[in-house]
Amino acid sequence: MQENPLFDGLFKYKIATAFTIVIFGASGDLTAKKLIPALYSLFSHGFISNFKIIGFARSKWDSKFFKEKITDILKQHPVHSADTTALPDFINCISYISAPYDTDEGYELLKQRTAASAQVVYYLATPPVMYEPVIARLGSNNLSRYDQKSTKIVVEKPFGYDLASAEALNSHLLSIFDEKQVYRIDHYLGKETVQNIMVYRFGNGIYEPIWNSNYIEHVQITVAEKSGIGGRGSYYENAGAIRDMLQNHLLQLLSLVAMEAPNDLQPDSIRNEKLKVLKAIRPIDRRSSMESLVRAQYGGGIIDGETVKSYREEHGVAPDSETETYVGVKLFIDTWRWSGVPFFLRTGKRLSRRSTEISIQFKTPPHLLFGRDRTAQLNPNSLTLAIQPDEGITFRFNSKIPGFDTKMRTVNMSFSYGSSFAEKSPEAYERLLLDVMLGDNTLFTRNDEIECAWRFISNLITAYREEDKNRLLFYPAGGAGPEEADMLINRYGIKWRKL
Ligand code: BG6
Repeated sequence: MQENPLFDGLFKYKIATAFTIVIFGASGDLTAKKLIPALYSLFSHGFISNFKIIGFARSKWDSKFFKEKITDILKQHPVHSADTTALPDFINCISYISAPYDTDEGYELLKQRTAASAQVVYYLATPPVMYEPVIARLGSNNLSRYDQKSTKIVVEKPFGYDLASAEALNSHLLSIFDEKQVYRIDHYLGKETVQNIMVYRFGNGIYEPIWNSNYIEHVQITVAEKSGIGGRGSYYENAGAIRDMLQNHLLQLLSLVAMEAPNDLQPDSIRNEKLKVLKAIRPIDRRSSMESLVRAQYGGGIIDGETVKSYREEHGVAPDSETETYVGVKLFIDTWRWSGVPFFLRTGKRLSRRSTEISIQFKTPPHLLFGRDRTAQLNPNSLTLAIQPDEGITFRFNSKIPGFDTKMRTVNMSFSYGSSFAEKSPEAYERLLLDVMLGDNTLFTRNDEIECAWRFISNLITAYREEDKNRLLFYPAGGAGPEEADMLINRYGIKWRKL
């Protein structure tokens, strides 16, 4: 296997050892669906060793019950390419503490259980209202900083509800931990193809010279989901697509596409460049919100032949809810590089297809050499970075159709991860968890990035609230989103890419 060139460069990541990970919110969905499978995969592939996992939650479980639950989860949903032979050893590393988050008893027990560990990682996977109490108790029980022990804290999204709450959370967190101990997760940054954006841009010589307003007409970023909100009605009612997806995942994708080349690969060099992009996004105010923003909610419809209910009929959702499940936005980045280039971002639930992609649309040639009528049918060049579910890159260009006449058609040049590399990419959480243990915070958002993203989003929310006319629209489940979203982009004589 090692001689196969397709494996070149794989399997060489560092190994994390001698740590304890404490999962607050251990009885919840995130632990079961993402964290435990990721830890098991890392363990069974030999990336972590000599560790303990302590589940901490209010549910009145004990270690035996928690171990049984995890065994069931891993048996019922086997982790990709990891067999179950390592399961007994993995389960042996696990224990559970049942305690309230806001009294000292559980933390005293935690102190005893982590006493012998050289490194302790606290993972906040609780509902966000519990972040502050947990952080406070870690501080008051002297569990946040040690002389001889490394401690880190991982904070799940949503990080705050608006700018003010994100600032308050940051300041509370940073009164108890140092910034270098804090890992704010945006799982999109752990996706292989998202990391490839930087490699693609800065590891190849030909793109940077044309990666600017001289050559690029516009950029589209799409995160379309087929799924609805599942059982998360009460969370989603207070979030909506703007807070749930745009504030974090989409703005992170945008900053990677639009950033300048960092001087080196130091975490802060990269984060400084991303921050500059976020700072340069032109605020959307009340007046511009009318032509820059579309908010919509899914109605009932049919997906994959099955009837699905409307958002307002979902469990935990108010029958007259005004929460958006789709957002489309046009924005500009006021920098030399991007002056005048519109960026169109859209994300929605219950759309016809799951698809995350970034598409760079280039300008048409300056001179219509092949005659107006023929050129009129031509599509401009585009470069599409497909992030999921198909991972790859496609360049579209025009080519002559064989024959005596000079007729043209747009054709594709494609690269697909699946056929170029034999190994499947690691799951986002595997990569991110391993990076936490290894102390690499490159793929995590810094306090100023989060606040800057919230500043843009808080302005946007205020703008549409003030502007009645920018009302909530509706779209049928299983389609491409609201028709009004087309207007955002059609105004420029262009269309959204087909879902
Ligand atoms: C989460 C959002 O952060 O990302 C969810 O809270 C969303 O609402 C999910 O469904 C999408 O993640 P992925 O990795 O499936 O694209």
